Amino acid sequence: MESRIWIALAAVLACAAALQASNETDDALLRRYVQDAHLDTAELIAKNGYPAETHTVTTEDGYIITFHRIPYGKAGPSRNRPVVFLQHGLMCSSGVWVLAGSEKSPGFILADAGYDVWIGNVRGNKYGRTHVSLSPTDKKFWEFSWHENGYYDLPAQIDYALEHAGQSSLHFIGHSMGTTSFYAMAASRPEYNKKIRAHFSLAPVAFMSHLTSPLLRVLSTFQDSLDLLMSMLGDGEFMPSSEFLASVAEIACQDQTITGDLCGNMLFLLCGFDKEQFNVTLLPIITGHAPAGSSTHQLLHYSQGIRSGKFRQYSYGAIENLLKYGSLDPPDYDLSKITAPVYLHWSSNDWMAAVQDVKELENKLPNVMESRQVPDTNFNHLDFMWAIDVKTLLFDAIIAQMKEN
Ligand SMILES: *[C@@H]1O[C@H](CO)[C@@H](O)[C@H](O)[C@H]1NC(C)=O
Repeated sequence: MESRIWIALAAVLACAAALQASNETDDALLRRYVQDAHLDTAELIAKNGYPAETHTVTTEDGYIITFHRIPYGKAGPSRNRPVVFLQHGLMCSSGVWVLAGSEKSPGFILADAGYDVWIGNVRGNKYGRTHVSLSPTDKKFWEFSWHENGYYDLPAQIDYALEHAGQSSLHFIGHSMGTTSFYAMAASRPEYNKKIRAHFSLAPVAFMSHLTSPLLRVLSTFQDSLDLLMSMLGDGEFMPSSEFLASVAEIACQDQTITGDLCGNMLFLLCGFDKEQFNVTLLPIITGHAPAGSSTHQLLHYSQGIRSGKFRQYSYGAIENLLKYGSLDPPDYDLSKITAPVYLHWSSNDWMAAVQDVKELENKLPNVMESRQVPDTNFNHLDFMWAIDVKTLLFDAIIAQMKEN
């Protein structure tokens, strides 16, 4: 079994080497971005010359989540700016939407297009590590997956943003786990559909049978040895053991052409690279914002989906499932309840959202307005946030779709 991990990592290594060979990095720029890596989301927004706000909300089950807002763009304040809510993916935080500079970050592109931009976070990441009674050192704090992100964290932030902005519905743009948690919310709390003007799914992840990500695929093969899995990954917060990480680093960093930042960052092991669209200058700042904290259950919930082929709630094992759900298997999400208009944006080179899986989702959602392939066959999972051409390849189309709603 072990050798399969190393084969997977070797594949990642090859991508990394290709990436590094293809880009020249300007030393002065790089130094500046190393400094920016320590800024929080609001500081990053302000540094780029935009108004930044920080807000805090407490979920129904006691998690205290800090999230961010860019109320307007370079043209200044104006009335009736529609709200758009941005939701990040696994291991990420609100910072991922504003770290690529003012021309190329989705957060700034949308603010300049006339939107009131709210940028969400979830429990467990660097902006969601407080709770009314639990502490991150309690195992119980970490007993959540993306189901709870969707059931509790998103509604709390959506309600807060709408009330604060004095509006009744918003555009919701999710990336990766931000789409999974959106679907979990919209299926489990269907009353939220009327608060969604339209949902834009970037790299939609619901069904996972065809996923490529070596890290998640390898995890799914360990499903039956949960103890081993927990000892490798962390039994609560996702914290791969030092032995696991050391072995990973040993393999991934043998090649001197790879920087320590790149080979040590789990996000790239999870999602892969695209050497054409990845701006290496951003690497230090990305590493400052991701991985940003996640629960082992979030990863396990995904690996369960690979095995079952179903989009359904977390499986605690037969006995606990029986107590919690009244059935041996967890219930499927009822996608027919998702009545909000949905726009799907996907690509053919995505390690997390395979084309066949996106098609299955598309066929099961009742209100898909458009299913759009990004017109670049190399576009990969992280490009939806950080591609050099993210505006022309993706966000110009999204903004046009937003105007239809
Ligand atoms: C890479 O990112 C840096 C920092 O935002 C930016 O100055 C540079 O123009 C970017 N390069 C490309 C090719 O977009």
